Amino acid sequence: MNKSDFSIFAQHPQLVYLDSAATSQKPKVVLEAIQKYYTEMNANIHRSAHFLAESATIAYEATRKTVANFIKAKHKHEIIFTRNATEAINLVARSWGETFLKAGDEILLSKLEHHSNLVPWLQLKEKIGIKIKYLDIDEVGQLIFDGSQITEKTKFVSLTGMSNSLGAITNLKPIIKRAHEVGAKVMIDACQLAVHSPIDIQELDADFLAFSAHKLYGPTGVGVLYGKAELLEKMPPFLGGGEMIQQVFEDHFVAGDIPNKFEAGTPNIAGVVAFKAALDYVNQIGFETIQKQETSLSEYALEKLKTLPYLTLIGPQEVENRGSITSFTMDKVHPHDIAEGLSQKQICIRAGHHCTQPLMDYWKLPATARASFAFYNEKEDVDRLVEGLEEVYQYFS
Ligand code: ALA
Repeated sequence: MNKSDFSIFAQHPQLVYLDSAATSQKPKVVLEAIQKYYTEMNANIHRSAHFLAESATIAYEATRKTVANFIKAKHKHEIIFTRNATEAINLVARSWGETFLKAGDEILLSKLEHHSNLVPWLQLKEKIGIKIKYLDIDEVGQLIFDGSQITEKTKFVSLTGMSNSLGAITNLKPIIKRAHEVGAKVMIDACQLAVHSPIDIQELDADFLAFSAHKLYGPTGVGVLYGKAELLEKMPPFLGGGEMIQQVFEDHFVAGDIPNKFEAGTPNIAGVVAFKAALDYVNQIGFETIQKQETSLSEYALEKLKTLPYLTLIGPQEVENRGSITSFTMDKVHPHDIAEGLSQKQICIRAGHHCTQPLMDYWKLPATARASFAFYNEKEDVDRLVEGLEEVYQYFS
């Protein structure tokens, strides 16, 4: 289904791509949008008055509007383009965190977090002495939350909406509600969630949300930060340079308004422009179709993988409350050997700690093998994975 929309599958007819959680493949419409941008309107944005600059600026700002609609944000100036989701989280940790947190303030993360949602806060801990607490997980990696983990001392909560290692989906609403009761702000790392579920940010009521274009069928080098306007307006700029200012003098500067205040320097214009094509493509297929296909693939994959007695599945064992990510280990075979063995058959999975070293330590695992599915995968891809795993096991055991 839809594989013909992606040139890479024609280029590699035997390819079984099960690493979409790391980065998705890009549909032809995105490649065409990049080509169109450079051939028809390449110019710097927001600066020159010539017709090319005007076209480029209009195209760039059209993506901002599309992203705002994609997550149902109230205003398009609540959407900031960054280099990636990591930069978006760093922006909040540095700009909001350094301004509104002080030594001893508590922030709440979870044991599921990816390094991007850990290291910026650990840096803040080193810099200003905040305290970091972690929400625990149960035996299948689902977050445990009963309200008591957020107290009057909690000033900020930053959580993944869906674990990149395990696929576990976070029940965000009660956590956000409780955080707001004590006056804490909430950031959601939606890198995985945004790919698999529609997001209504006003209904969710998170204060900040970060995700990346490249996992959402768009180009690499583009991240999105959503922030409530009233918060972004009170935050100082993160990076300084051109475009983020109103005026610059020899001894001081006056920052511009949002979103420009947070978009210093020439951005990835082509990437942002082409991201619109990716979102239009996703909207055209629709999350109903995407979720149907991904759930059916996950169900099939779990059922098939459970029949291999030498595999241990890590993470939620049922399709409910999980996304299309399946992590596993194989008796006597290191995950890197699994991935290499599969790669020889053109089956691509990720092996390692998945940038979640504390989670792996908690699980007492050095690494897992991870197969992640997108709507362009088919049941035959799961069959090829299972055959591949059987051959790898026989070879190594
Ligand atoms: N976050 C990406 C992954 O999980 C890189 O693979």
